[in-house]
Amino acid sequence: MKSALCYFSGAGNSKAVAHDLGSMLPLDSILPIADAMKDPSLLEGTDTLGLVFPIYFYGPPALMKRFILETLHALDLQLDYLFVILTHGGMPFYAASITDRLLAEAGYAASYVGSIAMVDTYVPLFRMPDSKKQTVKHAKIAQRIEKIGKELLEQQLKVATRLPLSRLLHTMWDRSLELRGEKDRHFVITDACTGCALCARTCPVKNISMEGGKPTFLHACEQCFGCYHRCPEHAIALDPKPLRGYGWYTPPKSFKA
Ligand SMILES: Cc1cc2nc3c(=O)[nH]c(=O)nc-3n(C[C@H](O)[C@H](O)[C@H](O)COP(=O)(O)O)c2cc1C
Ligand code: SF4
Ligand code: SF4
Repeated sequence: MKSALCYFSGAGNSKAVAHDLGSMLPLDSILPIADAMKDPSLLEGTDTLGLVFPIYFYGPPALMKRFILETLHALDLQLDYLFVILTHGGMPFYAASITDRLLAEAGYAASYVGSIAMVDTYVPLFRMPDSKKQTVKHAKIAQRIEKIGKELLEQQLKVATRLPLSRLLHTMWDRSLELRGEKDRHFVITDACTGCALCARTCPVKNISMEGGKPTFLHACEQCFGCYHRCPEHAIALDPKPLRGYGWYTPPKSFKA
């Protein structure tokens, strides 16, 4: 018996959810998917696997696609229980259907698919909530994690339903990935940057290199906005400017505290 939970996270919502669920479940390991992709042997022999990741532009992150189609496919795990938890900003739409298709292509089927509405970190469109609204939202997230954690502990079954037109939306999402990497051209480093390199160290896809003491984007971006939200100087500006003004959001390490 070996159990693992793998997660992808940009601004930190999904990481906190992964660790909160991990505290409720008998797991052997909780890993960022980048670590599992670097060393797939970490997952060999796993029979219970969890995946936690955000929805970006109505589908999974591009790295999640590679993790499923390349790493999990090659591992050919004999899973007794596979659960998928999607974190989102209130518009999950086709993400579960797309994930279900990717898993099927890699030879897997999820036993349980759940989702949790979080603070939406997509600052180009949405206003970041003030601390009062965050407190209310975090309490709801904690309740949802508690419910999902209990259902996972009982190994309940909740399979994804494929929505109408899911094949078409899957194709459109897949094509959109081709343009995503270049979207970091909208990030502008301002004079407030101190060159601390936190953005480069924490980018989940190593898309930032420090050159001459300043971050340079390498055009393989996930658009997770982790660098933007985490920068201690708020030195990453956007061009064009966010529709509802600048705002920053850092989730707590745990929603259960
Ligand atoms: C680029 C981007 C695109 C997003 N697209 C969607 C979306 O299509 N539907 C949705 O409900 N939430 C969307 N969100 C919100 C995120 O799914 C949500 O905030 C998530 O919890 C972020 O997780 P993370 O902090 O682990 O990256 C988007 C966020 C970003 C940054
Ligand atoms: S985290 Fe902010 S201050 Fe630090 S290097 Fe990156 S942009 Fe500059
Ligand atoms: S460079 Fe792109 S992928 Fe890296 S942290 Fe920033 S938004 Fe995310």
